Amino acid sequence: MERGELLYEGKAKRVYRTDRPDRYLVEFKDEATAFDGKKRGTIADKGPLNNRISAYFFALLERAGIPTHYVETVGDREMLVQAVTIIPVEVVARNIVAGSLSKRLGLPEGTPLSQPVVEYYYKRDDLGDPMINCSHVVALGLATAEELHRMRELALQVNQVLKEHLEPKGIVLVDFKLEFGRVDGQIVVADEISPDTCRFWDRATGEKMDKDRFRRDLGGVTEAYTAVWRRLTGEEPDVRG
Ligand code: C5P
Repeated sequence: MERGELLYEGKAKRVYRTDRPDRYLVEFKDEATAFDGKKRGTIADKGPLNNRISAYFFALLERAGIPTHYVETVGDREMLVQAVTIIPVEVVARNIVAGSLSKRLGLPEGTPLSQPVVEYYYKRDDLGDPMINCSHVVALGLATAEELHRMRELALQVNQVLKEHLEPKGIVLVDFKLEFGRVDGQIVVADEISPDTCRFWDRATGEKMDKDRFRRDLGGVTEAYTAVWRRLTGEEPDVRG
């Protein structure tokens, strides 16, 4: 598949057109940012690891009947996806209090939630991705009420599938962020599902296996992402950097 015009360059990925109008190529980068771009760095092999981990999760969701943009893995850092229009709403689902929820509500990290919490954030780097509610989403025309309902339903389904899949592998799914795309009148899970966008805690030790290691300068970031891959597949990742 030919790599065409660069459509979008984000903090962790580049998206290109291809010679097929209905396909985009996603390239996963090693660069990482946190705190609205105030913290920047490079995580060795993050691109290849997140490419593989995302493909693994997208395939898992597809098998569970949840539509995603994933088509196939075409390179070490490259994934072919459906050409979708991204809805500018980040949907966060949480099972356990951590991160911004802990700060906002003054609850200790690790507090279990009695049911999953779903939150919406306006995808606007210049505003620092502010939290919004359902009426903002609809009133601002970011998505219709039907689309919003579907995104919430899909986020809860994704939560259930990922949680149940990770549990026997000794990984607790604390929370995660999803982005959705429109394609052929359908809403599909897009972007990526990786340790950059999820919080994974080791069930036995509570150790963080995700981007919080980078955000909080805990060290061992590549090792943690590699450990996620090993837990998922039982194999060492064949990353060429
Ligand atoms: O920072 P916060 O606690 O709100 O993050 C909730 C979840 O969403 C975390 O898993 C985090 O990795 C993810 N997230 C993300 N991209 C953002 C904000 C949060 O992937 N822009």
